[in-house]
Amino acid sequence: MTLPPPKAGFEDLAQLRRFLVDAGFREPEVAGRLALSSLFDFRTLRGGRTSTAPPSDRLGLLIHLFMDGEPTAQGEAERLLGEEGVRLLLAAGLLAPYPHDAATLAAAALLYPVGPLLIASDVNEQAPGASPDGGALQSDAVYPALTGAVRGFLRDLPDPTEMGPDARILDLCAGTGVAGLLLASRAGEVGEGVLADLTERCAHFAGFNAALNGTDNVRVARGDLWAAVSGERFDLVVAHPPYVPADTDRMIFRDAGADGERLLRGVVEGAPDHLTPGGLLYVRGTAVDRVGHPVEARLRAMLGEAHGDFDVFVVISDLRSPAEYLSGAGAGDDALRRARSLRDSGVAAFVHGTFLVQRREGAREVVTVRRVRAPTAGRQALDWMRRSEVKALRPHARRALLRRSPRLRDGVEVQVQYRMEEGELRNRGCRVGVDAPFRVAVDLPAGASRFLPLFNGRRHTLRVLEEGVKRGMIPTGTPPDEFAGLTQALILAGILEVDGSAPPPTGAG
Ligand SMILES: C[S@@+](CC[C@H](N)C(=O)[O-])C[C@H]1O[C@@H](n2cnc3c(N)ncnc32)[C@H](O)[C@@H]1O
Repeated sequence: MTLPPPKAGFEDLAQLRRFLVDAGFREPEVAGRLALSSLFDFRTLRGGRTSTAPPSDRLGLLIHLFMDGEPTAQGEAERLLGEEGVRLLLAAGLLAPYPHDAATLAAAALLYPVGPLLIASDVNEQAPGASPDGGALQSDAVYPALTGAVRGFLRDLPDPTEMGPDARILDLCAGTGVAGLLLASRAGEVGEGVLADLTERCAHFAGFNAALNGTDNVRVARGDLWAAVSGERFDLVVAHPPYVPADTDRMIFRDAGADGERLLRGVVEGAPDHLTPGGLLYVRGTAVDRVGHPVEARLRAMLGEAHGDFDVFVVISDLRSPAEYLSGAGAGDDALRRARSLRDSGVAAFVHGTFLVQRREGAREVVTVRRVRAPTAGRQALDWMRRSEVKALRPHARRALLRRSPRLRDGVEVQVQYRMEEGELRNRGCRVGVDAPFRVAVDLPAGASRFLPLFNGRRHTLRVLEEGVKRGMIPTGTPPDEFAGLTQALILAGILEVDGSAPPPTGAG
């Protein structure tokens, strides 16, 4: 598919955007028409959606052409979209004559709303548009932005205003550029965005999408990972690189070497040269736990000598053994053989989730955190985690807790363990757990199940300690500092909460 150079058609693209918006080709209207609560749940007609009626208005036909990738007669297109609408779509390269049938038109590229944007990407098997027999995607096909994977990526996009005014932003492995464009569209808050990708085709689509959306504070760069932006530094880098384990590279947007980590490794290794102080790298994808080397330690190793300058956060959405992961990744009969070879090379598990690497500002300790998220935990939960982990490093943060009044959070589960010893069942400890925003289980000594309820939001931590000692729940002589340390760990785990620093409600994001 060929799109005209985006700059050359800038005026026409502005007109096209107005035409599409007037037709109601925006997220709320399209979702309403399709009765979906999110367009990420969209399925094309060939992908299994059942549609009742043929398109009978502008919006219906735009969905039919550009989201379902189905053809329509030129006369019908002109009747519903108007001659000017058809002209604009042809001029933009979005519509093309159907092969061997010039009186029929079809999409040369898919187009759909994502948040406030309109995004174009390549046609595919489920929505073939003007390439009905070209089912096999080209190796440099532009990855669609309405997939479950992109939904996960966009959900955790950091807030660029956290980086201060005029933040410099990079979307690495940008594809359509959807993430970088969403960040850059926060006009007045983002200085400049760069959309970088390896392929010319992606760079072209990203440029087209920027122009179509009238986003003028981004530029497009082409190259192998950081080579596209050599010598540049950024306050926020977001990346959704390829991460599917593959013996051979066939699809550039997907395949990432035997363990699926090739691109992630390159992204993380380059971070120290490209992040400003306070700069944040957010990667969404898959990495591996190796025997004795969990992913968070491996991310540190990838950062190299500079790792002492960085906080590292791993937030897990899904954790699978190589066999489980590969059987779900379409490796077919080969899955077992490949899983065995990965296991033999030391791969213990595939970790799918959100990886955050942030350069510290000024001299302080750094943190390494690994959490399993609840499905309902949104981006705000991640922000809370980063903020509170770093705040906890402040001098006196622990001691200050002695004068604050934490409370045990709703939903916390306490399992008391008893063991038969010398003829009687003895309380050997307890496991305290919470499901949201992160799934955490902490093993505590026997008395904890009794003293935890003393954290009722009205008693200072120091009073909890005194009371617990008095009632024989906490060993006499426990140093207040040590007790404050335990309290802090329980707050960071989301088991206790303190006013002003409680985790956000689940679903917020
Ligand atoms: C899974 S797609 C994600 C695209 C987009 N960020 C999104 O979320 O929709 C991965 C992208 O990485 C790009 N890519 C693959 N290898 C690359 C490399 N070595 N350097 C830069 N980009 C690369 C592909 O062209 C593709 O656009």
